[in-house]
Amino acid sequence: MRPPDAALRGAIALCAALLLAASGAGAFPWSIDMFRGESVQPLAQAPRVMPRGTLPLDGEPPMSREVAAAALHNPLKPDARELSAGKALYETDCAVCHGRGGRGDGSVRFLLRIPPADLTSGVPTQRSDGYIYATIRDGSIVMPSYADAMSAHERWEVVLYVRSLQNKVSAK
Ligand code: HEC
Repeated sequence: MRPPDAALRGAIALCAALLLAASGAGAFPWSIDMFRGESVQPLAQAPRVMPRGTLPLDGEPPMSREVAAAALHNPLKPDARELSAGKALYETDCAVCHGRGGRGDGSVRFLLRIPPADLTSGVPTQRSDGYIYATIRDGSIVMPSYADAMSAHERWEVVLYVRSLQNKVSAK
């Protein structure tokens, strides 16, 4: 084969240049949007007001369940108001797995390879309030964490309600 002549080499170089230009041109003018866009400097505007009902993080230090079990105590009294709030939260967030009565027989149980604990017998009845609280906050192997779904107050209400389910079963 004879080496490509000058005209052919020129044509190849032109094609390559056109291809390069075309691939760059694909991003234009989006590629310079970030330069042209309006910018807002930090604190140039007052911070936005948090929408109503937004849960602030309560800034609890991370703590293993074992430490929490001994260190944290339920600040709430099991009166009717706290218990009914705890019941509503429990039935929304926990009953699908643990069952309305806490027996570990919720409706999605069949989907889980690790079964939801029966909260009303055996080990869970010996756990301290702090342990149950930390389990709700941090989740467990399969269990989801409720750190950003419930306030600390709500988690303690759920603890009260879990205790009341346990008492109901043990009184039988
Ligand atoms: C997706 C299903 C699921 C949901 C929802 C769920 N759990 Fe669990 N939970 C589990 C499973 C499975 C276990 C046992 C295995 C593990 O520790 O992950 C468990 C374990 C626990 C334990 C620990 C028992 C022990 O002694 O170690 C407690 C307490 C508990 N759950 C309470 C709750 C409460 C209260 C809620 C609602 C705020 C809740 N769970 C929501 C699945 C769930």
